[in-house]
Amino acid sequence: MSLHLLEPYSLGPLRLPNRVVMAPMTRNRAQGTIPNDRMATYYRQRADAGLIITEATQVTPMGQGYPNTPGIHSDAQIDGWRHITEAVHEAGGRIFLQLWHVGRISHSSFHDGARPVAPSALRPTGQTFTAEGEQVPYATPRALDTDEVPTVVDQYREGAANAKAAGFDGVEIHGANGYLIDQFLQSGTNQRTDRYGGSTENRTRFLLEVTAAVTDVWDADRVGVRLSPGGTFNDMHDDDPLVTFGYAAERLTPFDLAYLHVVENELPNGAPVSAFMREAYDGTLIVAGGYDRESGEEALQQGRADLIGYARYFLANPDLPRRFALDAPLNEWDQSTFYGGGAEGYTDYPTLDEATADTVRTEEDGPVRE
Ligand SMILES: Cc1cc2nc3c(=O)[nH]c(=O)nc-3n(C[C@H](O)[C@H](O)[C@H](O)COP(=O)(O)O)c2cc1C
Repeated sequence: MSLHLLEPYSLGPLRLPNRVVMAPMTRNRAQGTIPNDRMATYYRQRADAGLIITEATQVTPMGQGYPNTPGIHSDAQIDGWRHITEAVHEAGGRIFLQLWHVGRISHSSFHDGARPVAPSALRPTGQTFTAEGEQVPYATPRALDTDEVPTVVDQYREGAANAKAAGFDGVEIHGANGYLIDQFLQSGTNQRTDRYGGSTENRTRFLLEVTAAVTDVWDADRVGVRLSPGGTFNDMHDDDPLVTFGYAAERLTPFDLAYLHVVENELPNGAPVSAFMREAYDGTLIVAGGYDRESGEEALQQGRADLIGYARYFLANPDLPRRFALDAPLNEWDQSTFYGGGAEGYTDYPTLDEATADTVRTEEDGPVRE
């Protein structure tokens, strides 16, 4: 049976050989925030993806909230990323950088004692890690002044320009999972009374200004946006996600972006995010979140998505499209090595060929001869 997942797709100027997208995954292995050779190996191993979307990458030091996440605001970081894009391109792949600012999901130890910034001075519940790896409660962030917001928009613009210099095929704006853009979008984290808060239109303004800035630097058909409608991760809440995200989708449509990427979830009306966004947004849709081979194939067949994002399966299976093609067994992921560490649980997950070679070797080395 031929799989929709393995059919090519034209994404703007790019021809994707399949619809199996590697979803963005923070791996905390960029010591000193500089992308390194081990990261190049990791991404090169996964170059068979229709598209790789990198781990979230801070556009400014203030945008960092976890240890050893990479940045895209210094020359050394651009150089580091260039090695990675070259490695992926040599292996025949395509790679977008995910542009990130964590907003309030941070700690002052990352910022020489300065408080993290956010739309409003609202402390997230729960605990975070300091730069030294100690677990502490979140602190109350500082609300950005109205005239500071354009400066932050410019940091995304700069990050986008740096991503171009680093040789990426495009960029994805991280508007999901409770980070800065999402903090502006959702009513629970935005109590502003200026033009960036209050009405749905005002709460969406920051997302749209960032999108406009990034599409100044890149052709829009090389820019994606990621949203997580109805998402509650990182202590998020919205009074009416259908209205907020329906409006955001409608306003993003005229940008003619490469794609909108949504995190699957169930909305208050019982609809899956993918079905809702398919109606609200006119353009290429990537969905991610809990998909496997069968459910991804079904989403494509039902027309709920054009491309499927896989995170944990791609983490553990560098040759995921091939395994899907052969309906081969999948490696299991090891959660203990998701965030930080070295090669273990990072670049040592075997491909099918490597796993088979191991098996053959074991048999040859065994005592039994026929
Ligand atoms: C280790 C790990 C790191 C992640 N980091 C990011 C990230 O940097 N940016 C992002 O948008 N989502 C991130 N996510 C969320 C994934 O992109 C994806 O939405 C989620 O894992 C659900 O997809 P899955 O069921 O295929 O794993 C991360 C997920 C995992 C497991």
